[in-house]
Amino acid sequence: MTREEAARRHAWLVNEIRKHDYAYYVQATPLISDAEYDALFDELRALEERYPDLVTPDSPTQRVGGGPLPGFAPVVHSIPMQSLDNTYSLAELFAFVDRVQRALPNERPTYVVEPKIDGVSISVVYRNGLFDHGATRGDGRTGDDISANLRTIRALPLRLNFREPPELLEVRGEAYLPTRAFEELNRERARRGEPLFANPRNATAGTLKQLDPRVVAQRPLSVVFYGAGELRGIACDSQEHWYRILAEAGLPAPSRHWLCRTKEDLSEAVEALDDFRKGLPYATDGAVVKVNEWRFYRILGATARAPRWAIAYKYGAERARTRLRRVLFQVGRTGVITPVAEMDPVFLAGSTVRRATLHNFDEVKRKGVRIGDWVYIEKAGEVIPAVVEVDRSARTGQEEEIVPPEHCPSCGSSLRWDGIFLRCPNPKCPGQLKALLRHFAGRRAMDIEGLGESLIHQLVDKGLIKDLADLYSLSLEDLLPLERMGRKSAENLLSAIEASKRRGLGRLLFGLGIPHVGETAAEALASRFQTLDRLLHATEEEIESIPTVGPTVAKSVADYFRDPVNRARLDRLRQAGVVTEAERPLAAHGSLQGKTFVITGTLSEPRERIVERIREAGGRVTESVSRKTSFLIVGRDPGSKLNQARKHAVRVISEAELRSLLEGGTNEDEAARAG
Ligand code: IVH
Repeated sequence: MTREEAARRHAWLVNEIRKHDYAYYVQATPLISDAEYDALFDELRALEERYPDLVTPDSPTQRVGGGPLPGFAPVVHSIPMQSLDNTYSLAELFAFVDRVQRALPNERPTYVVEPKIDGVSISVVYRNGLFDHGATRGDGRTGDDISANLRTIRALPLRLNFREPPELLEVRGEAYLPTRAFEELNRERARRGEPLFANPRNATAGTLKQLDPRVVAQRPLSVVFYGAGELRGIACDSQEHWYRILAEAGLPAPSRHWLCRTKEDLSEAVEALDDFRKGLPYATDGAVVKVNEWRFYRILGATARAPRWAIAYKYGAERARTRLRRVLFQVGRTGVITPVAEMDPVFLAGSTVRRATLHNFDEVKRKGVRIGDWVYIEKAGEVIPAVVEVDRSARTGQEEEIVPPEHCPSCGSSLRWDGIFLRCPNPKCPGQLKALLRHFAGRRAMDIEGLGESLIHQLVDKGLIKDLADLYSLSLEDLLPLERMGRKSAENLLSAIEASKRRGLGRLLFGLGIPHVGETAAEALASRFQTLDRLLHATEEEIESIPTVGPTVAKSVADYFRDPVNRARLDRLRQAGVVTEAERPLAAHGSLQGKTFVITGTLSEPRERIVERIREAGGRVTESVSRKTSFLIVGRDPGSKLNQARKHAVRVISEAELRSLLEGGTNEDEAARAG
């Protein structure tokens, strides 16, 4: 064979194998037998051995090369990789459509419905049709370069199928481990006594973080693409068009999507997809609804987190069926009465459930729920389970209607209708105060450990707390006579209350329970205005000028601060010593004063919790390792930060070592030696 013939044969083999990879890994319809495929591969390998200069970067022999990497280099996404907002009902999905329509009053946008793949987001860049590099999402702006790992994925073409390839094409999508392969992998790990992966997503993330591509090559990862990043030398005008481009290029995409014009189309499409997704090789947890025409994206824009031209629609998680025995009426912190179902205990998505919300009386009527009914409950979206449907076929005729109460179950005031809501109009209602205290003390607000349900009842019923701020004047003498209250727990509670003063403005604002102000809005307000005083003097327009704050929130905040009762409450909280500035001041003499920490891998507690403890002890937590980092805390499955720490000679410690540092028991040198 002349060299010229060899080169021709090489090109033919590369192309032939690429075609079969596509047929097998993307279309799941092999055109030849495994033995025939192996023969092609062997021939290619022999040819390259004889003529090493024929090896091209897109040759299938180049999928697994070299040994372990020292770490992953950072990749800056030229266009940030965003997240999506979620919806859990058709009503919320239609509200999205209404928002889009309001922003495009003279247009008729169409929509594409596609599966929401529960994998690990990736970005892959092709230059002149050849695989250039690929990265994880990271924090959305900077990810890890995982090119070597991605190359091993057979469904990912190393060369695109364009006659005239574009200068640059960045595709975005998900890497995943097919459900079957995941089960097989976990079985194998169990046999070898290795720790199991929680789910396919977790297994995929763990695999992509592997520094040795040879390990990755042994796991049958796959990819599927739905989005575009940077494009040069190629034009695309809609999502539908984008899917045609992906198909032409030979890039794997979801096997179906639905084009919709109306809300009816959308509801049919999400329903059809719910059925269709069961046959897909990857896990899905919802639908993604996108405006089809890309020219509208610029007009619709994005919030800090997610685009306004797309939304996720999450399919109801797990359901359980049980018997509804009784309905309680719960007073919320704004006086709204919520009907709550008490049911026969039933196991649902990890816990035993006895109560579920019925939301409001309009919902009770809409669903036709009665006492004695067999009902379906779900934990969709929230942790609080909800009654979603009645099993009418199980009716006996003995079921009783749920009648809205006339008087407040807490203070006895006559209740009033306020739209679909039934409300207690008494601002001094103890039920409302209890609900507010529960929220204020919650983990995501002021985080007062030990202030539980029975204590809240006693404190309010005995008149020890008449307003939020009274919490901060409680004394040991007040607490000791309470039921089930020993000296130790009373002291602990008082120090938890004391510690809560320093949570900072964001969490205080969330804790106040201002209608429509969730955690995100509260943090946005705190970071924009920095101090409570500035926020108190802000106009509604100034508040609304925060990109992530809408008009409803702005109005609600302004109304709240105009109310003299609320102002008096804030004054008293401030006098009690509650910090009303954004930056939580660092503990002056904390054991971690002046130390900087970085965390990598999975820890035994939620990361926020650990970050908070470090901050409380006067330490700082940053995202990336540098020479200035004092300690790297290493959990399970550490990422590239571990290598960076070694490079910068940063001290590496375990979670247990962190704990002793926090307790001030071990000095840092000991900890460093232990690491
Ligand atoms: S569009 C800026 N489409 O879900 C547009 N995302 O929960 C955002 N995801 O970060 C991405 N399937 O990683 C889009 N068909 C799909 C998706 C999808 C899964 C992921 C994506 C995103 C996350 C948000």
